[in-house]
Amino acid sequence: MSTAAAMKQEVGKVAAQRVKSGSIVGLGTGSTTAYAIEYIGERLKNGELKDIKGIPTSFQASVLAKKFGIPLTSLDEADRIDLAIDGADEVDPNKNLIKGGGAAHTREKIVDSLANEFIVVVDSSKMVDKLGSTFLLPVEVLPMAMTPVMRAIANLGGEPELRMGVKKAGPVITDQGNFVIDVKFASIDNPAELEKTLNNIPGVLENGLFVGVTDVVLIGEVKDDKPMVREM
Ligand code: 5RP
Repeated sequence: MSTAAAMKQEVGKVAAQRVKSGSIVGLGTGSTTAYAIEYIGERLKNGELKDIKGIPTSFQASVLAKKFGIPLTSLDEADRIDLAIDGADEVDPNKNLIKGGGAAHTREKIVDSLANEFIVVVDSSKMVDKLGSTFLLPVEVLPMAMTPVMRAIANLGGEPELRMGVKKAGPVITDQGNFVIDVKFASIDNPAELEKTLNNIPGVLENGLFVGVTDVVLIGEVKDDKPMVREM
């Protein structure tokens, strides 16, 4: 197992330990959260946890939840989300995030924002001083509005690029049937303002800036050749 995978596994395990019996859990998307989903399933199977329900943020999360035996519910049925566990592509010192590396940020923002506690699980490579320094900002857009949205983003000073599929010809299609535009901004000085400005462009569904949503960040690190978890 690579060092990055070992950090992700450890941090996923620690997050899964925070789930309590009887709770409704938001299940995030990505390779780090996948470990958390696996360990929640393991705790259910060995009887340590009882009466859990998951609310998935993507097809990936619902497929994994079914694989690991976690019963699912929906926002229509659940009256609350006790805890959400999700990954991130960048985390700044104020616990603000860029998400959407897996094109799931629209559903993730709905579920993560509704949770009473939102735990972010990352490896140490995701920590940045300023958002946008290592990762492009994902914006989900209705396909028919792609061109005017890209123009509006360019007018804001961004460099938009349509995300293309891997092992699929043409653009990435989100779980809602939309496109993703990844945007390079020279500098994101005010994430809260940019989040609102982008969402105000007609045709934009949601962008990957998560401002003021995170409660806890669990960071996987390697110390003396051993994976460790630090809390922020
Ligand atoms: C999906 C996401 C993921 O949480 C994010 O891309 C992190 O993924 P990983 O844990 O695989 O690094 O936002 O839309």
